[in-house]
Order: sequence, then C-alpha cells, then structure tokens
Amino acid sequence: MTQKSSPWWQSATIYQIYIRSFQDSNGDGIGDLAGILNRLDYLHALGVDALWITPFYPSPMADFGYDVSAYCDVDPRFGSIADFDRLRDGLHQRGMKLLIDLVPNHTSNQHPWFQEALSSRQSPKRDWYIWHDPSPDGGVPNNWWSLSGGPAWQFDPASQQYYMHSFLAEQPDLNWRNPAVRDAFYQVMRFWLDRGVDGFRVDVIGGLMKDPAFQDDPVNEGYKDSDPDFLRLKAINSSNRPEVMEVIAEMRAVLAHYAGDRVLIGELYQPVEQLVFYYGAHLEGVHLPFNFNLMWLEWKAWGVMKLIELYERHLPKGAWPTWVLGNHDQPRVASRLGPAQARLAMMLMLTLRGTPTLYQGEELGLENAIISADEIQDPFAKAGKGQGRDGERTPMPWDDSAHAGFSTHTPWLRLGGDAALKHVAAQDKDPLSMLAMTRALFKLRKQEPALSRGEWSALYADDHSLSYERILGQDRFAILLNLTGQTILVEPPPYSAKLVLSSYLDHTEKAFDFSDHVTLRPNEGCIFKAL
Ligand code: NOJ
Repeated sequence: MTQKSSPWWQSATIYQIYIRSFQDSNGDGIGDLAGILNRLDYLHALGVDALWITPFYPSPMADFGYDVSAYCDVDPRFGSIADFDRLRDGLHQRGMKLLIDLVPNHTSNQHPWFQEALSSRQSPKRDWYIWHDPSPDGGVPNNWWSLSGGPAWQFDPASQQYYMHSFLAEQPDLNWRNPAVRDAFYQVMRFWLDRGVDGFRVDVIGGLMKDPAFQDDPVNEGYKDSDPDFLRLKAINSSNRPEVMEVIAEMRAVLAHYAGDRVLIGELYQPVEQLVFYYGAHLEGVHLPFNFNLMWLEWKAWGVMKLIELYERHLPKGAWPTWVLGNHDQPRVASRLGPAQARLAMMLMLTLRGTPTLYQGEELGLENAIISADEIQDPFAKAGKGQGRDGERTPMPWDDSAHAGFSTHTPWLRLGGDAALKHVAAQDKDPLSMLAMTRALFKLRKQEPALSRGEWSALYADDHSLSYERILGQDRFAILLNLTGQTILVEPPPYSAKLVLSSYLDHTEKAFDFSDHVTLRPNEGCIFKAL
C-alpha cells in the first residue's frame, strides 16, 4: 500500500487579503480582484503559498461584504466572475492556491431568501431564519447578545416576531437546523469548488447551531470592564453548540468529492482547550481551526512557551496546528507588541509547527492607523458598538506615488500614518527591512522542510527568552528568541550549530561562542542549524 503524502496545506503558508484594501485596479478607491491579480508577482516573490480572500460577493456592504446578498457571484465593486477566473488561473499558474471566505452563519437582510422569509409567516423560506415570538412581557425572547453590540433580536412589526442576528440587524442568522438551508449552502460550496477554489475559510463556524430551546446564555463570571459587552455572557446557547460538528462533517463530505486536498478552515475564537474540539474526535471536523491565542497573550517568553506546549499537548492525534498573529478584525501585531517585537513574532510564527496565516501588511510591520471620528467606516464602530476595526484595515502602501500606489482615487479608508515610511518600494530597497526579513524566513521555511513539517520540542523559557527545536530526520534547528529590549545571555543550542538567520539579517556567518552562552541583542531572534 502506498502511503498518502501529507496534504499541501500542512506545509503551506497562507496570506490573508482584505480585498477592499489590497489593490484597486479601476480607480474607484476600493480594492478588487483584478488588483490582486496585478500584485500576484509580489505575493509569489514573498513566498506565500495560498491566498485567503475576504468576501467579494454582491453585498449592500452593511458589514463590508460579510452581509452577502448573492453567494454565487461577484459584487461589481470587486469585479466579475471573469476576473475571479483570471485570478484563479494566475494563482494556479504560479503554483499557488486560492481560498475564499464562506459566510454561512448569516445573510444580508437584502438576500432574496430573507426577503421571502420576511414576506409572511407562511413563506416557505420563513424557517430558513431564526424567528421567535416576543417574551410574555413583549420584549426580546431571551438575553442573547449580538457581537456588534445590543440584543441579538430585531422585531419585525409586520409579523409580530423577532428574528435573530449574531451581528448587525442587517445580518439575519440562518437556521442551520433546517436541512434546506444546509443543502442550499452545500450547493454554494460546490459552485466555487467546481470553479477551482482550493478551500474555504468559514466565517463564524462555531456559531451555526443555536440552542433549540432558546435558553439564556449564562453570565460570564470572568468578565472584566475592559472587555467588549458581548463577553458579559458565556455564549453557550446562542453559539458554540457541539451539534455544529454534524454540519462541519457534512461540509467535509462536500469537499471530499473533489481532488486536491481542498481545505476547510474555521474562524474560531476559542482557548486551545476548547478549540481542539473542532478537529473532531476522528479528525472529521475542521482541518484547520484558526488558533488566535497568540493575539491576546501577554507577551512574556514563558507565557508564549506555555501556550505552545498547551496547544501541542491538547491537539488530537494527527491534528495539524495553525497560528495567526492578526486579521482584519483585530489590532495589528506591530501595534500590540511594538515594531521590534513584531519581527520576533513573525519569526516565531514562521518557525512553529503548524500552518501560519499572515494578514496583509504584517510583512511590512504596519501599525494600526488612528482613525478620527469623522473618518470612521466600520459599521460596528459607527454604531458606537464594540471595537472599531478601521485601524487594521487601511489600504496597502505600495510606493510613494499618490495614495501610495493603492489607487488613483481617494481610497475608501485613509492610509495608515506609517504608509509613507513603510511602503513596499521603500522596504524593497532596504536589505534589513521587515519585508526582507519576512522574505528570508519564507525562503528558509521552503528550503528546510524541518521548519514546516518537523516535530516541535521545547528547550527552555524564562522571563526574557524562549527556545525550541524543529526536528526532521537528521535535520535539527534551534530557535532562540529574545522577547526583551535588552541584550541578554541565553543557553546555547544543546549541540554544535551554525547560525542560519538572525532577525537583524546581518552577520549570518558570524560564529557564536558556544562554550557557555549565546548573546542575543535587543529583540533578536536567531535560527541555528545543527552541524
Ligand atoms: C467575522 C469577520 O471576520 C468579521 O469581519 C465580520 O464582521 C463577522 N465575522 C460577521 O460576519
């Protein structure tokens, strides 16, 4: 019997494109599919293997595309199906993969399904959404809270019932307990799989099933005043129901009909102990449940090590890890940790075991923009509800031309304050730039399979630094990371080794004194290879 080789997505790196802000090709100030095609050479040279593109479907843009009004089409603002096909071909010709965003938890309130559901209580589409009579006092049916702020229920005066929305009222939740909804969605998946997509990032995958008895969510005892409102409750009835695994297994069955190891990635905001549940007891669940835990970790060396060990320990047998530093919903890593430590975070993510997903601009070390009240675009922030996300969504800065080469027109959201300094063209010329370091890391990861497929094991961690190994066959790598702004002395790798990459990108041939210690400069990370 021949042994099946591991699927492509285990050794791949993924790059997230927030389509509105990557590259505009038609001068309307909004990024589009053709813009991405124009930048494929940049992405290919960077060394990423797969792109995940945020929603480009027709949408009223109440939540910038996460409110879909037609699932099998392209919004004219983002291009056309022909542009999509050209982008797919451009990627596949370069040996790269295309992942798209699937938004199954809710539709737009303008989607024909919802319009039909709204038309009468007797409509055949009524049960495609989640409706409930008012509570006996005439108010909302229960205490479920929307993630964009306020109760998760909107009253429909015509039918005298409430419908549920986990996000904005313009995003009514679908009823995934209805088999017709499931079938409709599996059709949508087949449409895109037939068109050649290599997988899906599934939005809010853990929220698809709700408690059929509509029980209240219990109070979260661990709530802190600095937390967003929705964390006041533990969403165990409005979301995160174990029955969702049934749906996920069905999605996997849809993918299984297609060749080429199509991948299912889930958006899941969960601590690792709960996150691993989504792999499924027999790995019939999500291939890659996004692991966001680095994003809110206190940035201490021993804490980072504790997280990695906890995750590695909890992974079901054969499950493949995954790591993320940021996305279009969370403050940028360079703002959270500072630019110097953002370099280290990149080295960490690209040397851990697991599939990494980079958010556009992380390779440039972009920081969050400060958005003044009159510039706010994010609907969640406009409603004065929840955390504004514009700061991490500013357009990609490409060069020093008008609008940083993003568009010939004023962009939909202004450029970040660091665009003029950190644009691609400037970093291209600087051999020590963050971009240069990210490219070097990608290159090394490709050259050295131990860094992608190798086993991971801890060496040590203390208050200042951590160190771990990657091992594949005879190849052994030790990664030493200084998480402080001081020069420190750390234990050397437990064997003779040569330095293959420093995050400073200089002296790569310089020998270290292995007699008793290695000196790490402020914020320095080093990758050693055993001789
Ligand atoms: C998660 C997406 O990443 C976010 O941008 C969106 O607002 C919500 N899901 C709702 O779809």
